[in-house]
Amino acid sequence: MCGIVGYIGPKTASEYLIEGLRRLEYRGYDSSGLATIEEGGLSVTKTTGRIDRLAEALAKNPPDGSVGIGHTRWATHGIASDENSHPHLGGDGSLALVHNGVIENFRPLKEKLIALGYEFLSATDSEVVAHLLDHEIQQRLAEPTTDGGDPHAPLVEAVQATLAQLRGTYGIAVVFRDWPDVIIAARLGSPLVVGVGKGEHYLASDGSPLVGFTDKIVYLSDHEVAVISAGALRVVNRDAGHISHVVKRLEIDASQVELAGFPHYMLKEIFEQPETIRAAMRGRLDADQATAVFGGLNLSPQQLRAVDRIVLTACGTSWHSAMLGEYMLEAFARIPVEVEYASELRYRNPPLTRDTLLFALTQSGETIDTLAALREVKRKGHPTLAICNVVGSSIAREADGGIYLHAGPEIGVASTKAFTSQCVVLALLSLYFGRLRHLSFEAGLRIIEELRALPEQVEQALDTNNICRQVAAKYSSADNFLYLGRQYNFPTALEGALKLKEISYIHAEGYPAAEMKHGPIALVDENTPSVFIVPHGPVYEKVLSNMEEIKARGGPVIAIVDEHDSRAAELADDVISVPVVADFAQPIVSVVPLQLLAYHIAVLRGCDVDKPRNLAKSVTVE
Ligand code: F6R
Repeated sequence: MCGIVGYIGPKTASEYLIEGLRRLEYRGYDSSGLATIEEGGLSVTKTTGRIDRLAEALAKNPPDGSVGIGHTRWATHGIASDENSHPHLGGDGSLALVHNGVIENFRPLKEKLIALGYEFLSATDSEVVAHLLDHEIQQRLAEPTTDGGDPHAPLVEAVQATLAQLRGTYGIAVVFRDWPDVIIAARLGSPLVVGVGKGEHYLASDGSPLVGFTDKIVYLSDHEVAVISAGALRVVNRDAGHISHVVKRLEIDASQVELAGFPHYMLKEIFEQPETIRAAMRGRLDADQATAVFGGLNLSPQQLRAVDRIVLTACGTSWHSAMLGEYMLEAFARIPVEVEYASELRYRNPPLTRDTLLFALTQSGETIDTLAALREVKRKGHPTLAICNVVGSSIAREADGGIYLHAGPEIGVASTKAFTSQCVVLALLSLYFGRLRHLSFEAGLRIIEELRALPEQVEQALDTNNICRQVAAKYSSADNFLYLGRQYNFPTALEGALKLKEISYIHAEGYPAAEMKHGPIALVDENTPSVFIVPHGPVYEKVLSNMEEIKARGGPVIAIVDEHDSRAAELADDVISVPVVADFAQPIVSVVPLQLLAYHIAVLRGCDVDKPRNLAKSVTVE
């Protein structure tokens, strides 16, 4: 939520800042702004709406300063307006600040600053930080600095003193009118990285803006303050002392952040799934031992065998894949599994057995609730592992170990390829835990074969694109949808409903197919389509009966069936057929037409598919 960029070096800062903001736009797109240091002082431009509007505003009067910061906002405090957009000026315009996060104690701080004579122009919590920092700087300028040799010492001390007064989360970046040779950035709970170039530095909320500018990256950690000049990067602790930083290689390439001819990132990412599924399995299948292998769990097989309970925690789509994980882990490994919304787990105190292991599932690795739930369970002494896509993200770094999805950047706000990759990684884990326990060599080998077949089967599922577009055209004006499936396909139904509602703004509910009789069936009428996920399997007949119940009430039925089907096809109004796969793998192929259906409906309704209203991809506020 909210994206931050910064640049200091010999070039025109706004060029990187605008490009960087475009790449971070998925983090929030209510408004945006830039501040650069020009000959006459700070120049600030802000607009509501998308980055394109900011770029247009800047084109009229292009800033040519070589130091600057930028921000794209997902509103938390205060509506999306020019005043509430960042950067915010501190004092009389001595500094400009951008902020990502939430300052919980902003009210008492604001009262104190008003009493000191500061005037507030916005309703945001962030402007408080700008004025507070100005106040701290003015105090230090009035007194001799403690470090006569360091021209930035008053600024760094003032930043440290400001941060010490804040309660909440922040990623901040500041430029100073009277110190044009430095940007100061700091983080607590909101991600920040520094890109290292030759005689220049870049700042960003994640690695994607850096692509094409530099491949050297420094991941800042909580409580760190970065003092960034063109030729040097210094990291100090929020309280005291210097911290040595490690420069890593950025593992994203240009093709991964381009549209590559697709009209939307979401469609591109749906079509990437055969390859991302391959990447999730690469090097992780061991047919000799009929098991899976992982490099980064950081727990021995003995420790893992002793695990008697697994908690899977996540939000949104990642929570849906966790549900599938529960079914697979319990079936393959016979380990009791709990799936917990991270936002609930962080404030609950569920009894955990001594040998409980926690997995946090997250595409971004930055979801604040998931991070907090992980920290809470870790604090109680349990091992915590992450299943995560973004390399170097907060959750990846705070977990004791984990498994990367290797799906590449997911830019469309609606998660698609991360979901299927998470499902594949959870299948690998279930195989691994199963083979540590009860699963036979033969059963393990069968699962490996079924997994190896998946990329091609997903490729075939993508052939449903045209039929999905036709079905979408038929139902795109509906106001309500039901998504129904059972067993492994209950999470698929939840995920199908979430995809539709988040990008097309149509109300949709996912249910276990039999549950709909306990309430949601009241919604069924001739204008409410029900999407059934009904491949062959142990509950096939049962789901057919549930379809009959909907048909008997005049509801249109769209059926996702497998190639061997004939009976569901007879009952349904529209049929979309996917390859036959093992039942645990059905969600991975069945979700593909659901993603496509949601995509085409949203396009037909004229919705902004990649940036749906009110959403942001990385939810770093609770
Ligand atoms: C839905 C979607 C969200 C995320 C959720 C968790 O398409 O993208 O529901 O799944 O915000 O995000 P991560 O997985 O990054 O923790």
